[in-house]
Amino acid sequence: MLITVNSALIYPAIKVCYAFLSSAALLMNKNTFYQELYSQVEALISDESDVIANMANVSALLFEQLSEVNWVGFYRMVNNELVLGPFQGKVACIRIPVGRGVCGTAAGDNKTQRIDDVHAFEGHIACDATSNAELVIPVTLNEKVIAVLDIDSTVFNRFDSEDQAGLEKIISLFENTMIKHGVIN
Ligand code: SME
Repeated sequence: MLITVNSALIYPAIKVCYAFLSSAALLMNKNTFYQELYSQVEALISDESDVIANMANVSALLFEQLSEVNWVGFYRMVNNELVLGPFQGKVACIRIPVGRGVCGTAAGDNKTQRIDDVHAFEGHIACDATSNAELVIPVTLNEKVIAVLDIDSTVFNRFDSEDQAGLEKIISLFENTMIKHGVIN
């Protein structure tokens, strides 16, 4: 008996299996990826007390290591307004009032903003029209927001909860490094 294989059925099935396996693999790799990234950041900043220098190197490292990101940088809180700090990417807006845009909301609420589609975020400030997703994490010292880390991507839904957790851990390390070096605000 001749068994005929219907390729119209087989190929979609293979695709589904492949998608399932690759997303599981990605999940495992992401965990390892963020553990390694954490160690790299630790090696880079732990002996340095200068906050601006550490922001500069963390931006450079994250921009190099994270896939599909088009802007990584810090906005610093200066006189109750966010002011552009060390970053990697295209030139950006210089001053952002607290409460405005994704960065100003993260700073005002002291809460991470993970935005799948920035165009759906009321008041989003479009520094680069090609950005579609954004992750903004507040940086605090003595319970005061002293800066935010802003990461942009041209890919919708670029950041998931694992990215958020991995990057929030890195920001905790950044905060603890400031405390270790006696930085005051
Ligand atoms: N999109 C941000 C502004 C900063 S840039 O993306 C570098 C916002 O809405 O706050």
